[in-house]
Amino acid sequence: MAVYLDGRFMPLADARVSVLDRGFVFGDGVYELVPVYSRKPFRLEEHLRRLQHSLDGIRLANPHGVAVWRELIEQLIAQQDFDDQSVYLQITRGVAPRDHAFPAGVAPTVFMFAQPLVSATAEQKSAGVCAITAPDIRWGRCDIKAISLLANVLARQQAVEAGCAETVMLRDGFFSEGAASNIFVVKDGVLRAPPPSRLILTGITYDVVLELAAAHGIPAELRAISEAELRDADELWMTSSTKEIMPIVSLDGVPVGDGKQGPMARQMDALYQQFKQQVMRA
Ligand code: PDD
Repeated sequence: MAVYLDGRFMPLADARVSVLDRGFVFGDGVYELVPVYSRKPFRLEEHLRRLQHSLDGIRLANPHGVAVWRELIEQLIAQQDFDDQSVYLQITRGVAPRDHAFPAGVAPTVFMFAQPLVSATAEQKSAGVCAITAPDIRWGRCDIKAISLLANVLARQQAVEAGCAETVMLRDGFFSEGAASNIFVVKDGVLRAPPPSRLILTGITYDVVLELAAAHGIPAELRAISEAELRDADELWMTSSTKEIMPIVSLDGVPVGDGKQGPMARQMDALYQQFKQQVMRA
């Protein structure tokens, strides 16, 4: 498996980073995860725009322009022996003696690798997954896709220990998002999600879902959604680049709606698959 590190492609086993890298010591870095279907990156422009937002948020200069990123990602994709990929890229503030303040004149560390992307089958989507809830204990800049993911790691582990796929995080009586996904609610035929803010990561999948809803006349509303509304939903979905649109059919052990993939989830999944096909053919 070829990976990219600081200007070179190399076998994974040859990729080495100093233990003084600020990503390792402080979690001082940001990342993106780009899904790739049939060797075509999905929504790359939007991912690179969000990467810029994250870099701006931590005051780290972007080491590359969009054209160079595009070229590097294409090279990485070409070097894998599988067609559907998830491309992970991360940039840290580089290697320096440990001190919280930014080091001067240090080059960032740029790392990329690709993994096979295995999308959920129709059967898996039809069966759905279970989720639990937990307090959202994260900081106030969840819109930055930071590599320091400790609170998300703890939340996801709680789900795994409960035999579930995701944890829906609650803050001040409202839900924010999943440990590694955005959350949508359907009630009486209306699709709802919290609006973009500093308390959630605005997913690329979230944006696509909202665009598809608008384009196909599905009523959608962005507003804060209370815990009571979360528990009273007809349908609950988790969305992300790797999970796409996955129905949550049980929350804290209580069935959501009739405990199966709902009709709007089925419709949105069909629209999403169609949209992917269009992108791949383009
Ligand atoms: N996570 N919110 C959080 C906290 C996330 O970690 C993710 C994705 C999302 C959905 O974003 P997108 O639709 O752009 O994938 C929302 C990725 C998949 C990860 O960290 O592996």
